[in-house]
Amino acid sequence: MASASKTAPNRGVIHPFDGKYGTDTSGFLGPEELVMGRANDAHNHGYSAIAPSVFREACRRWRDTLPAVSGKIEAYSFVDVGAGKGRALLLASELPFRKIIGVELCEDLALIAQKNVARWSRAARPRARIRVVQGDAAKFPWPRTPLLVYLYNPFSCSLIERMAETLAAAPGSGLVDLLYVNPTCADTLARQAFFERLWTARIPMDEADQKADPYGTTSDLVSIYRLARARDHLGKRSP
Ligand SMILES: C[S@@+](CC[C@H](N)C(=O)[O-])C[C@H]1O[C@@H](n2cnc3c(N)ncnc32)[C@H](O)[C@@H]1O
Repeated sequence: MASASKTAPNRGVIHPFDGKYGTDTSGFLGPEELVMGRANDAHNHGYSAIAPSVFREACRRWRDTLPAVSGKIEAYSFVDVGAGKGRALLLASELPFRKIIGVELCEDLALIAQKNVARWSRAARPRARIRVVQGDAAKFPWPRTPLLVYLYNPFSCSLIERMAETLAAAPGSGLVDLLYVNPTCADTLARQAFFERLWTARIPMDEADQKADPYGTTSDLVSIYRLARARDHLGKRSP
């Protein structure tokens, strides 16, 4: 396994987002640093936070895939599968989601995320309520509302496979989208065919994000998927 300093040469850099809002979302933790004897520790891909410029642009492009009449963002719950320190939850609250939920396996990270939500709620104006749940996403009971399930490469393909199965079988509206950053398990989703890929693109980071990126990269690959049967509810409009 590559050492953390090789994988993430900028792991100690504090992102200006944290300076601005008094939060603690920066940094990098390798998978081996998150092992605490939990059932799914071995599948964990580690912690780093999404680049705000990539997240905002990805959400903008997701919104463009929603039909004007039947696809209102206010109906959707945003669920961050592997919420880490909660940066994506805070950013999601810039949009009028119905609710925002983060599920995080690691107790320490979930606690930091909860503190960040409290700080953010004082410093910014969240447009939706944010809840952090400490636990394994493999056991998470999905809300029955339309869902935007957000993943920033949280875990291995065997767990992605199980998650997609439970989402496809979950009772609810049948409207389920995935926003998948660094989609390393795209082949797994394609093989299962529960979700259709609407769109994939490499989104460039802005300058501030590039300077603070733990991996020293300048862009992220992002895909948007839609539960195949959701297309029947929403109509077949292409993005
Ligand atoms: C790359 S970080 C993404 C953090 C955050 N979503 C963001 O975009 O800023 C992935 C997170 O997934 C968490 N994770 C891994 N396996 C998990 C599981 N089975 N259930 C819940 N969280 C998990 C890790 O602990 C880590 O914090």
